[in-house]
Amino acid sequence: MPEGKILERMLDGRRAAARIACAAKLVPAPGQYLLAYLPASDDPLAVAVFSAGIANDGFYAASSLPSAWTAGASLSLRGPLGRGFAIPGNARRVALAALDVSPAYLLGLIPLAEKQGADIVLVCDNPPEDIPANVEIRPLTALDEIAQWADYLALVASRAGWRERVHGRGRPNVTREAQVLIVTPMPCGGLARCGVCSVEVGKGLVLACDDGPVFSL
Ligand code: FES
Repeated sequence: MPEGKILERMLDGRRAAARIACAAKLVPAPGQYLLAYLPASDDPLAVAVFSAGIANDGFYAASSLPSAWTAGASLSLRGPLGRGFAIPGNARRVALAALDVSPAYLLGLIPLAEKQGADIVLVCDNPPEDIPANVEIRPLTALDEIAQWADYLALVASRAGWRERVHGRGRPNVTREAQVLIVTPMPCGGLARCGVCSVEVGKGLVLACDDGPVFSL
């Protein structure tokens, strides 16, 4: 199995949880994930690791990692897996919104939106400090307003947070394209059909690992 290495653990998870070195072909696109194992550990469960952006020697990991996974540890990696975000090529107003998880899951979309000349708004209540100056920051209370403004809206939420949003205030009222990344444990990545990652989207239950973890709204 391909190898990676934890180069650094970050203290502030709003930007990234860690920096991981790996081959370029393993770096997950925004919304995709790698399944990472620590061969030296007794814990057999894999952790789904998402990208918060590309680094020189690998990528920044958005997902929080087990505390035993310290800098210098070697990882076994499988992936990239799953359906990631896809910004429409004609989108000129791009909104990124983190409901109840770190905005780091969305930060890899910023360079892609910049490349197509889009105006970018990050909607969250706890933004990282080193966001590019061209990215406007708005609080979550502005989400409905921003969802109306955007050509494309990318959301991220935990499984519980998304359920609460849909059954409480309802889905954001979007006028164009919108996608949501649902963050949930995905221990088998679809190999064993364990069902741990099942999420309620649209009319029924689906597997986040296989059918997502990014879903169209
Ligand atoms: S993680 Fe096992 S089926 Fe999705």
